[in-house]
Amino acid sequence: MKVVFIFFTSLFLFLASNFSTAADTISPSQPITGSNTLVSSNQRFELGLFAPPNSRAWYLGLWYKKFPDIVVWVANRETPLPDSHGALTLSKNGTLVLSDQMNNTIWSSNSSRVAKNPVAQLLVTGNLVVRDQESPTTTTADSESYVYQSFNSPSNTLLPDMKVGWDFRTGHNQFLTSWKSASDPSLGEYTYKIDTHELPQLVVAQGSKKLFRTGPWNGVRFTGTPGAGVSATPFLIPIFVYNSSELYYSYEVTDDSIITRVTLTELGSAQRLVTNEENSEWTVMYTLENNQCDDYGECGANGICKIYKSPICECLQGFVPKSQKEWELLNWTSGCTRKTALNCEKGEGFVEIKNVKLPDLLDFRVNKTMLHIEECEAECLRTCSCMAYANSNITNGSRGCLMWFGKLIDMREIDEEDSDQIYIRMPASELGDTGRKHKRIVLISVVSAGFVLLFLGLSCWYVKLKKREKKMGSRTSEEDLELPLFDYGIIATATNNFSCTNKLGEGGFGPVYKAKLTQEEFVAVKRLSKDSGQGLEEFKNEVKMIANLQHWNLVKLLGCCIEGEERMLIYEYMPNKSLDCFIFDQNKKWLLNWQKRFDIIVGIARGLLYLHQDSRLRIIHRDLKSSNILLDDELNPKISDFGIARIFGRNQTEAKTKRVIGTYGYMSPEYAIDGKFSVKSDVFSFGVLLLEIVSGRKNRGFHHPDHHHSLLGHAWLLWNKNKGLELMDLCLEDSYIEFELLRCIQVGLLCVQKLPKDRPVMSSVVVMLSNEGATLPEPKEPGFFTERGSMDIESLIDQGKSNTGSTITFTTVEAR
Ligand SMILES: *[C@@H]1O[C@H](CO)[C@@H](O)[C@H](O)[C@H]1NC(C)=O
Ligand SMILES: *[C@@H]1O[C@H](CO)[C@@H](O)[C@H](O)[C@H]1NC(C)=O
Ligand SMILES: *[C@@H]1O[C@H](CO)[C@@H](O)[C@H](O)[C@H]1NC(C)=O
Ligand SMILES: *[C@@H]1O[C@H](CO)[C@@H](O)[C@H](O)[C@H]1NC(C)=O
Ligand SMILES: *[C@@H]1O[C@H](CO)[C@@H](O)[C@H](O)[C@H]1NC(C)=O
Ligand SMILES: *[C@@H]1O[C@H](CO)[C@@H](O)[C@H](O)[C@H]1NC(C)=O
Ligand SMILES: *[C@@H]1O[C@H](CO)[C@@H](O)[C@H](O)[C@H]1NC(C)=O
Ligand SMILES: *[C@@H]1O[C@H](CO)[C@@H](O)[C@H](O)[C@H]1NC(C)=O
Repeated sequence: MKVVFIFFTSLFLFLASNFSTAADTISPSQPITGSNTLVSSNQRFELGLFAPPNSRAWYLGLWYKKFPDIVVWVANRETPLPDSHGALTLSKNGTLVLSDQMNNTIWSSNSSRVAKNPVAQLLVTGNLVVRDQESPTTTTADSESYVYQSFNSPSNTLLPDMKVGWDFRTGHNQFLTSWKSASDPSLGEYTYKIDTHELPQLVVAQGSKKLFRTGPWNGVRFTGTPGAGVSATPFLIPIFVYNSSELYYSYEVTDDSIITRVTLTELGSAQRLVTNEENSEWTVMYTLENNQCDDYGECGANGICKIYKSPICECLQGFVPKSQKEWELLNWTSGCTRKTALNCEKGEGFVEIKNVKLPDLLDFRVNKTMLHIEECEAECLRTCSCMAYANSNITNGSRGCLMWFGKLIDMREIDEEDSDQIYIRMPASELGDTGRKHKRIVLISVVSAGFVLLFLGLSCWYVKLKKREKKMGSRTSEEDLELPLFDYGIIATATNNFSCTNKLGEGGFGPVYKAKLTQEEFVAVKRLSKDSGQGLEEFKNEVKMIANLQHWNLVKLLGCCIEGEERMLIYEYMPNKSLDCFIFDQNKKWLLNWQKRFDIIVGIARGLLYLHQDSRLRIIHRDLKSSNILLDDELNPKISDFGIARIFGRNQTEAKTKRVIGTYGYMSPEYAIDGKFSVKSDVFSFGVLLLEIVSGRKNRGFHHPDHHHSLLGHAWLLWNKNKGLELMDLCLEDSYIEFELLRCIQVGLLCVQKLPKDRPVMSSVVVMLSNEGATLPEPKEPGFFTERGSMDIESLIDQGKSNTGSTITFTTVEAR
């Protein structure tokens, strides 16, 4: 009887707590305990006790009511509760106290002032504040009226109206700190803060090591941040205050239905995510560290990073690699030195480099009052140790003078017109007509933009091929189906007028949007950048050519949309995003058991075989990687992004390019080093992909405590010791089939062999994967096995050079 009574009481309490949680305030007489929560009056934020996934520790935290998994603030990060029995009390003097079951204080808000008649409230902005009951209610983060506010101690998330930066009056610097792991909110290694030199920069760091920085604030934006381009988004207003009392970055949202946040993940990546009231998923609008060129100091001193080039690092004009040998091995850490030393004599001058992220502020000087750039130039020229100069403030025309001394670190080219420029000091011998070079480079990337027909791709060269391909294009177009043209109005409506919340991602040449045609019908729309310079006929031909590629394992192009200058490609929509979101994600990798992974491997192999041999064109994909494998609603793999695919004539087997495009970690040695590509370079990438799928590990950035090899080397070493199974992702332990798994690893290793001639063609790969009986050859050493500091790669380079590409030929064996 008693038991039943208790049961009913607790049930009642439970219901009561569930129904009475509309409250958004705590007064000294009403603590929150156990599973009670506070909910902001707009029903967006909820405050209460929670335990992170896979954790027994409990925390006082703040999350979105609609997304309880997204915790945006944690009070007691370093002092968890041992269990769910905790209470949050507001003491009479206005201190918030979190205590455990034994009344021990676990955490408290230490406010500077005492409140007479305090009340704590969870505001609609997600700010937990304590104020005097008499003081007026505002939602702004107005520090005067609050005794305490959680916005002054951010965790890993920057909400609208929250600040990162400095209060010079108190010396308080607030910034984001990552969680230690997804199940541990205690202070992780990564921070996101404002570096307060004279010119502020936003810096993401791991301890004291900078991982990413924006360029300095130039009065309008942080230089060198196109994606994060603070002003590009209609509903976001960036706020940057820099005066004698404060220096901070913050943002406002103009549209109340939009929910957005900046989060520093436990892996150190700073992302802006967005969703809205109706949506049930978050979209990543951008990641600050977006590609290799964003890695701090990637190209060393006096180098510049250009993401569309290969290799991506170049020395600045007038500079040469400090160590030619290292540079050729794609190790850029030691950077570049001057070809001709400066001596501060007559005739020295400057070359202009446009559209760059300005170098880091290590040794520099700024004069904010200087009005004319000519003055700045004269000042830099007069100072012998001045290496470069630029405007420091472009708010009202160009003004201010920023000068660098010593090394120029962490410069990159920005793919955006009218970005910042820098002027670099040159000896007389380097001046002359060379200054024009930079302009040409900018031009090339603009011109080629239009040929890109891809899904989230980055592409650039293509121009030369056009003439050859055009012939094929027109031949095929006569015999083939007309490509459906979509109505612009329909697409605009279906994408909410290309709203940010519909954005799926950003490719090199235009964003991709999710479009809702009907209640159940979705498509993906790639909106190509406008100034492509591509003619209408050319565009149509190219679209038709790609539309003709029809295979179950290729993403299907459904049509296009042409309206004035607008060019759009309509693809089938893939709800499950890409393979990398699964296999490298600690939570989602479990969704792909062995059977599923094996099916995906075979599917990709079939799609690639089709591109290589079975379609009427021979197509080399050139950028096969996990993020280019999209998954449909049944997790069937679809190869996407043919943007840099190279179309070969029927009897052509190999080609060479100066402009190597692709992704490090997936590129074969002969392609990365010598620019040679063929079906065999795709086979190499396929092999890497296969080993990644089996192991759940990325090839690029792979580290092993026992050796310095890549994932490929690691796999090969294990294979030779008959320990192939150890490569397997542990989450496959319950589902794997030993013989299939070992066969996959063996096929993967055969595909990544160093010499192209040793690698199988895709038709053989498909046979090897699906035929149990066949005996396979033993794999030889994989590409890049001896990369670091050995003779091998050099001899490979030498071989390539002396033979000028003609002897490393190989015939493609076709199964016909
Ligand atoms: C407020 O009260 C709490 C406990 O009631 C005490 O620990 C704290 O020191 C007080 N704070 C101030 C500023 O007086
Ligand atoms: C905790 O403190 C409250 C109020 O001060 C008191 O009523 C309660 O008995 C205490 N509980 C324990 C376990 O000490
Ligand atoms: C809060 O506590 C910390 C450490 O105990 C101290 O450094 C800081 O000055 C306190 N802040 C206020 C406003 O009292
Ligand atoms: C600094 O800017 C903030 C925000 O605009 C303003 O509230 C504050 O009064 C300014 N302080 C000074 C000293 O100008
Ligand atoms: C790159 O070169 C530097 C020396 O300049 C060396 O310390 C470093 O280990 C090299 N990195 C790799 C990956 O070989
Ligand atoms: C900044 O430039 C102005 C104008 O050239 C000059 O008058 C001033 O002395 C400079 N300030 C500093 C700190 O060098
Ligand atoms: C940039 O210049 C504007 C005036 O043109 C000024 O109001 C602003 O404070 C300057 N910003 C910085 C960071 O110097
Ligand atoms: C910028 O210049 C315009 C006109 O030249 C002036 O009206 C405005 O106040 C200036 N803004 C700042 C911030 O100095």
